[in-house]
This record gives sequence, C-alpha cells and structure tokens, in this order.
Amino acid sequence: MKAIVLHRVGEPEDLHLEHVADPTPAHGEVIVRLRAAALNHRDLYICRGQYAGLRFPIIPGSDGVGEIASLGDGVENLKVGDQVIINPSINWGDNPRVQGPDFRILGLPDNGTLAQLVKVPAQNVLPRPAGLSDEEVAAIPLAGLTAYRAVVTRGELQAGETVLILGIGGGVATFALMIAQQLGARVLVTSGSEEKIARARSLGAKGGFNYKTTNWVKAVQDATDGQGPDLIIDGTGGQTFDIALDAARPGGRIVTYGSTTGVVPEVAVRRIFWKQLNIHGSTMGSPTDFRAMLSLFGEGKLRPIVDRVFPLVETGTALKHMDHAAQFGKIVLKID
Ligand SMILES: NC(=O)c1ccc[n+]([C@@H]2O[C@H](COP(=O)([O-])OP(=O)(O)OC[C@H]3O[C@@H](n4cnc5c(N)ncnc54)[C@H](OP(=O)(O)O)[C@@H]3O)[C@@H](O)[C@H]2O)c1
Repeated sequence: MKAIVLHRVGEPEDLHLEHVADPTPAHGEVIVRLRAAALNHRDLYICRGQYAGLRFPIIPGSDGVGEIASLGDGVENLKVGDQVIINPSINWGDNPRVQGPDFRILGLPDNGTLAQLVKVPAQNVLPRPAGLSDEEVAAIPLAGLTAYRAVVTRGELQAGETVLILGIGGGVATFALMIAQQLGARVLVTSGSEEKIARARSLGAKGGFNYKTTNWVKAVQDATDGQGPDLIIDGTGGQTFDIALDAARPGGRIVTYGSTTGVVPEVAVRRIFWKQLNIHGSTMGSPTDFRAMLSLFGEGKLRPIVDRVFPLVETGTALKHMDHAAQFGKIVLKID
C-alpha cells in the first residue's frame, strides 16, 4: 500500500508518500481501506518530535473513514465491505472518568490513517453517520470526540449558560462551537483572525474577540455583564490559560484539553482559590463519549466543518497550512 511515513524528526516537507507492506489483522482486529483521513495538531507535534513516545518509522494519522477490507480471527458482527468510521481512542479501559494504562491514540505508537490501509481493533470501528461525504465523516473522530468530552462530559454545559471557546479556528474548537450551540448554550469565541470570528458568528456565536488586537478579557467581561462566562474551553494553554483565569466567572469552570502555545510559564493560583474556580482536564474520550458524539452528526443533524481537502500526497503542504493556523475547521486528506 501507499502511506505517509515519518522516518525521523523533521518538518512537514519531509513527509513523503511511500510503498510499504500491507498490514495484516491479528485476532480481534480489522483492516480498513481508507477513503479519507484528517489532520490533528498532534500530527504536527509528532512530525517535529514534540510528542511523547515517538518511534520510527511511523505512519501518523488518527482520523479515518472507509470500508472493512479484511477481518482477523474472532471478529463478529462486522463483514468485509461495511462502511465505517474509526474511533482513534484505543483501549480506553473500564473507568469512564479516566483512560487506563493501556490507552493509546491511533497514529502513535500504532500506525495510523495517513495510508491506504490501517489496522485497528474491531471495537474501534462503528457504522459511519449517514448523509455526510467521506471528507465530512473523516473530519469527525478525534476532534469531535475531544470537543464532546470537553464540553459535555467534563464541562457539563447546560442550556442557557454562556461558554467561551478559545481559538475558534482550531479543529476541536469548531466542533465545540457546534456541540455547544446544539445544547442551547450562548457561545462566545476568541480568534487571531477577524475572518474566523465572522465565520463563527455566521455559525451562531453571539460574540467574538480578537486575541491579537483586543483586550479580550475585558471584551468578554463586557459581554457577560461583568461576570465572565460559565465555562471556558481552552486548547491553547501557555500564557493564554493564565489569562483565562482572569476571564473566568467566580465559581465558573475551565476545561483544558491542549497547549498549542506551550507550557504555562507561571500560574497565579490565588485566582483559582479566590474565585472558587473548577478546572477540569480532558483528553480524547471513552467509547460512550464517542457514540454519544457520533449521534449528533449525520442526516438532518450537525455537519462537520471541513476547511480544505488535500490529496494524501500533499500531506506536508496540508500540515504547513495547519502550522500557520490558516484553517477554520478540519483539514482533510483524500485517499485514492
Ligand atoms: N487532550 C486531547 O485529547 C487533545 C485532543 C485534540 C487536540 N488536543 C490539543 O489541542 C490543541 C488544539 O488541537 P487542534 O487539532 O484543534 O489544533 P488546530 O486545529 O491546529 O488549532 C489550533 C488553533 O489554536 C488557536 N490559537 C493559537 N494561538 C492562540 C492564542 N494565543 N490564543 C487563542 N487561540 C490560539 C488558533 O485559533 P485561531 O485560528 O482562531 O486564531 C488555531 O487555529 C493542540 O494543542 C492539540 O494537541 C488535545
């Protein structure tokens, strides 16, 4: 098969399409013939050697849609030709509150979806949602799952509450916007781009603030009667997480799921205890989260936001597009 293979730490332009051996399914596994995959910020970190547990060579990629090409021994209730979406959250474990010690994300250490074929445990494939294109379905898994758990399971967002989503152009952030809207919440966003703020407004956001050009904490306070939002969803981390503590409502919640801008240099914890803040970490999601998230998408329901579609051979260019935060929504790769 052909696949994007990473042989060493490098830059997106070092990623090339290569011929590699087809995977073979072990007991309880299936092979999926992929028609589309999608990128996540994780793929950029892996390419640059900024992700724990690196191994080479590795085929990155966590999101995929396609059809079952072959089955390993002991696989029941699936057949060759079934149209499936892949849940990249592997071996979550028995505890809904936290993943277990054997938890892995597809695309490292296991070979991922930037390939014509991928091997996954049978329990990680589900029927694809109806009424969506291959590209739309491929956009869903990792970002949709992360957003669902952050907003619903961990954030416990309620109808009528106000949620602030930081960096709305991001893949996870756009799913968080859709899911929060669906719940009946009032959504505010930040972005480094006026155009993306306008896009978010067109999708129902009630306010948007440019983190590059405005004092967004003040703008958020003004938009919430001086109180701050009930919930903040942050995948930015770094200094922005520290600033988010100022924006938070006393007694409010913050869910952190990522740190695109790096580590937090210093957090003044006084604001956490004085404002009685609830800070929740969130990573990926359980099988229950995945199924609940998936039920929101499909015919007559939510549609994922696909920013651009690149052929698999142009994965390097697509990753550079992500590196420049040029996207609004998901960057998808079409696989022949
Ligand atoms: N814990 C988990 O399970 C999990 C799962 C998925 C992702 N993540 C992490 O979450 C982060 C986002 O992932 P992604 O795939 O959605 O990334 P992405 O699509 O590349 O989005 C990153 C976004 O970050 C925003 N951003 C950059 N600097 C910012 C700042 N100073 N303030 C506010 N926003 C800023 C930009 O938004 P604008 O373009 O609007 O400015 C950019 O579009 C990554 O760090 C990723 O590793 C974690």
